[in-house]
Amino acid sequence: MSRTVVLEAESGSITWRAPSNIALVKYWGKREVQCPANPSLSFTLSKAATTTSLKYENRPSDGISPTFEVLLDGKPEEGFRPKIQTFFERARPYLPFLKDYHFIIETSNSFPHSSGIASSASGMAALALCLTDLERQASPGMEDAYFKKKASFLARLGSGSASRSIQGPLVQFGKYAGIPESSDLYAVPYPYKMHPVFEGMKDAILLVDKGEKQVSSTAGHNLMKGHPFAQARYSQAVSNLDTLKPVFAAGDLDGFVRVVESEALVLHAMMMSSLPYYVLMKPNTLGIIQRVWDYRHSEQVPLCFTLDAGANVHLLYPRDDSAQVERFIEEALVDYCFEGQYICDQIGFGAKKM
Ligand code: DP6
Repeated sequence: MSRTVVLEAESGSITWRAPSNIALVKYWGKREVQCPANPSLSFTLSKAATTTSLKYENRPSDGISPTFEVLLDGKPEEGFRPKIQTFFERARPYLPFLKDYHFIIETSNSFPHSSGIASSASGMAALALCLTDLERQASPGMEDAYFKKKASFLARLGSGSASRSIQGPLVQFGKYAGIPESSDLYAVPYPYKMHPVFEGMKDAILLVDKGEKQVSSTAGHNLMKGHPFAQARYSQAVSNLDTLKPVFAAGDLDGFVRVVESEALVLHAMMMSSLPYYVLMKPNTLGIIQRVWDYRHSEQVPLCFTLDAGANVHLLYPRDDSAQVERFIEEALVDYCFEGQYICDQIGFGAKKM
């Protein structure tokens, strides 16, 4: 992923919009540097996205790292600096031109920053795409496939799940024997058949808690080191990927629901059984889960939930059931949401240059 690139660009600006993604099989646990302990699989989202403009200026360098400013919605955002600094340090060997530049990184999210929706996947993907695009200016012959792979590789150095936000609609991150082209270093599009019932699948993100995360994902991943159930969990992720292949091919929604909900609960079970242990679900998270189970049972609609490392609930359902499910959300679930807020999203096709 490293090339000798001599950039001639003096100054300019590049803008990319990268979507968020929701993992079906969860990435939880990692090795140095930013390599997943188990393979994961996600749906790329459509509306939940980060748009980042990278303004660059060639400046005499200190010979080590780029200097940069970071703005969120037009205002300086010092809170983002440490993560971006670490990202630049990790990316330096693969983008040797970085040190010659000063960057102004202007970023904005389609969802409120305080919503509790993680912006690191979409944010790191958008930044990685801008930098790969800057590299492409010096290598105009760079093939599209290489461009996407490199952007995913760099995004991973910022945040593992960000590697899955370059392409869509279904993306695999981490070496998995069932997908020979898969890698621990970047994500690849799922290469097998996806039944039309999954096309345009919906994701309603119910905002249960808008507070700051109690425990960062990075700290959570680290707690998998020495975790008594780690090896069983990593094997389970692989066998869930094996299970999903025929599920996707046949459009087996019952099979899909079983794997996706189990993955969400196991993710939280890992947190509850680590040392120190912690609980990120809130009473309303459990309230929603119970209502979803009751609804699925009584209405026979293949509605299921998944969770990230937080209290918010993602509801997944086929496009054809959206009118009925969205009525159910309005009637039964908004009361569990912080200020009644939720976001209706759907599967998307990846990042776009603006
Ligand atoms: C629970 O990608 O946020 O959302 O690599 O440390 O930035 P870092 O972690 P991150 O972890 C994502 C964890 C998850 C599951 C998933 O998206 O697969």
